[in-house]
Amino acid sequence: PTIFAITPTFARPVQKAELTRLAQTFLHIPNFYWIVVEDAINKTELVTNFLHESGLIYKHLNDVTPRTFKLGKNDPNWKKPRGVAQRNKALKWLRENYNSSQNAVVYFADDDNTYSLKLFKEMERIKVIGVWPVGLVGGLMVERPICDASTMKVTGFNAVWQPERKFPMDMAGFAINLRVILEKKDAWFSYESKNGYQETEILEQMVTRDQLEPLADCCTKVYVWHTRTEPSHLKEENLLIKKGRKSNVDIEV
Ligand code: UGA
Ligand code: MN
Repeated sequence: PTIFAITPTFARPVQKAELTRLAQTFLHIPNFYWIVVEDAINKTELVTNFLHESGLIYKHLNDVTPRTFKLGKNDPNWKKPRGVAQRNKALKWLRENYNSSQNAVVYFADDDNTYSLKLFKEMERIKVIGVWPVGLVGGLMVERPICDASTMKVTGFNAVWQPERKFPMDMAGFAINLRVILEKKDAWFSYESKNGYQETEILEQMVTRDQLEPLADCCTKVYVWHTRTEPSHLKEENLLIKKGRKSNVDIEV
């Protein structure tokens, strides 16, 4: 199957570094199709050139987060759901451009996480929805579906943070067969989602708990980590900017 990875991304000092790390992982994956959706009014030159030179098969989209839903400078990052408009744009594009004769799996691959190649190998087997552990998320070393090895069924989750969610999982912890995305054509992400409810709300629109297919050795292996990059500290740069002598006038970082 083709693996469609949907990556929302936004301009910030670390963006090109994040995208480079991702692209160089994805180059190793057979039948990989990267859907990159910029959180921007217009596609940027940086991302346009980056994708062009990446060597990957990709679709470059953009959709700006409405101002009222954008995080303020001093807002904690959990205050608003992130990636909503961008992931919806990608779902719309898939639904408009593919039909169920396309054998494919769809994965929401944020630009800051760390992905093992083993994860994408697992995804090839997904019939409806595959699930697996995610490292470093939900305040735990690992959040994971509980898998019964005798039946190969998911019997619960180990989440401690908001465990009452029907699907208490991070976005990085599942991938969905394209057929399901096409069949459930009215399933969308929403800005109305409570903090931490994006995953469960999209999944509740598309699948039931008994359809979960535990992967990664009955959810005993970690192949993806919810890493987060520290914002770069640019104190000296800001001094230079004030003097009109910024360090990156003629060089893309
Ligand atoms: C957690 C989950 O891992 C995300 O998948 C989920 O979207 C998010 O919570 C949420 O509840 O909204 P977290 O690490 O806090 O993730 O989120 P980010 O990595 O900051 O953002 C998720 C994606 O949206 C990233 O690919 C990021 O580049 C993108 N993003 C973020 C934008 O496109 N615009 C923004 O203003 C912020
Ligand atoms: Mn993240």
